[in-house]
Amino acid sequence: MEQYVIKGGNPLYGEVEIGGAKNAALPILAAATMANETVTIDNLPNVRDINVLLQAIEQIGAKVERVNEHKVKINGAYIRDLTVDNEFIRKIRASYYLIGALLGKYRETAVALPGGCDIGSRPIDLHKKGFCAMGADVDISHGLFKVKAYRLIGTHIYLDKVSVGATINIMMAAALAEGKTVIENAAKEPHVVDVANFLNSMGANIRGAGTDVIRIVGVQKLHKTEYSIIPDQIEAGTFMFAAAAAGGDVLVTNVIPKHLEATTAKLLEAGCEVEEFDDAVRVISNGKLRRTQVTTLPYPGFPTDMQPQMAVLLGIAEGTSTVTESIFENRFRYVDELTRMGANIKVESNIAIINGVPRYTGARVNAPDLRAGAALVIAGLAAEGVTVIDDIHYILRGYENLDGKLRELGANIELVTSEKELQKFILKVS
Ligand code: EPZ
Repeated sequence: MEQYVIKGGNPLYGEVEIGGAKNAALPILAAATMANETVTIDNLPNVRDINVLLQAIEQIGAKVERVNEHKVKINGAYIRDLTVDNEFIRKIRASYYLIGALLGKYRETAVALPGGCDIGSRPIDLHKKGFCAMGADVDISHGLFKVKAYRLIGTHIYLDKVSVGATINIMMAAALAEGKTVIENAAKEPHVVDVANFLNSMGANIRGAGTDVIRIVGVQKLHKTEYSIIPDQIEAGTFMFAAAAAGGDVLVTNVIPKHLEATTAKLLEAGCEVEEFDDAVRVISNGKLRRTQVTTLPYPGFPTDMQPQMAVLLGIAEGTSTVTESIFENRFRYVDELTRMGANIKVESNIAIINGVPRYTGARVNAPDLRAGAALVIAGLAAEGVTVIDDIHYILRGYENLDGKLRELGANIELVTSEKELQKFILKVS
């Protein structure tokens, strides 16, 4: 049993350092298996999804040396098994990045498909479309995505929907395909660019990442490199919103402010002060928030991974706000939990209509998924009284030391593992 317990009401003050981006690190670890030399990756976030993927990479035979909690060396020369399947890998979506990596390198692989997801159905048709267009045969059966290509040949691929996963997966396979691949309507997220930069540092020839059209000229092999992962824009945004909701003055360091533009814009609209520095942003909030409207969109739009945190903020803003989710269909599952903390939110189709209340009140709630879980932490920080959050294993998949970092800023939060620890905390704060 792991829970967060929070006594709300403390404003946040001080500095917090952001770690490496989980959603860049996952494909980069998969891509690291594509070289037969040692690849060193730094600024790795030490979170559960990363550790599960590293285990899977080790299980297929690659040499994985954990230099420290944020640095790993991977050598793909020793890969012997092209089937990736274990009970843990089935639980992380990012296992699909091993399809593109191993298909490119070995021309075949079978990877366990993750099941349904807590934020909605997560189709994989665009990944399949890309691999098939390059000449691969795909068979999805017995829970495995099996793909094989006699020859993998570069081609034009138009993505019907902007997809981070499909863009990255196709880019990885194309890096070692024959000839030129063009991905149109590609995702432009910072992590797509980071993966392209990483592959290029291994000798790939990828141009245009960060724009709608990515051009890849296949090379014969990839070589060793040393690479440091970009900072996590969602972790940064989560701390920015925590400061905004709880009030206070927080300097969020080790970030790329350009990646945070949509997040920053919404904080300004909500009445916070935001200062930008070269590699930091400072958020100042007196806790008095204004209504606004937001729609999630692919980058550079407002990220779906910040949608629940935004809704929590607007839940205590003056007036009526709306939050429209345009990427995933099931990303409002936190609303019932937040309602138990006093929020007044009505969901109609993909729009949450939020009537701001003066404050949240502490309650026992469940984290329905990673980002919604983080959002409930923010609600707990801003709430009156004690909030207990169950199912925090979701949160631990993507945030490193969230409670420790918040405590450094003055929050009254603990990760407890037993009823006794929980009661001890409650006694201490009451
Ligand atoms: C990535 O998921 C992230 N996951 C998600 O992070 C993030 O929410 C999402 O991108 C959007 O930014 C990882 O990087 C591991 P998509 P991904 O393909 O790649 C549809 C988090 O909390 N689609 O960009 O799976 C899909 O249904 C998470 O860290 C298809 O229709 O998302 C969605 O509507 C959760 N067919 C849209 O595209 C496909 O084949 C965008 O999804 C693929 C996707």
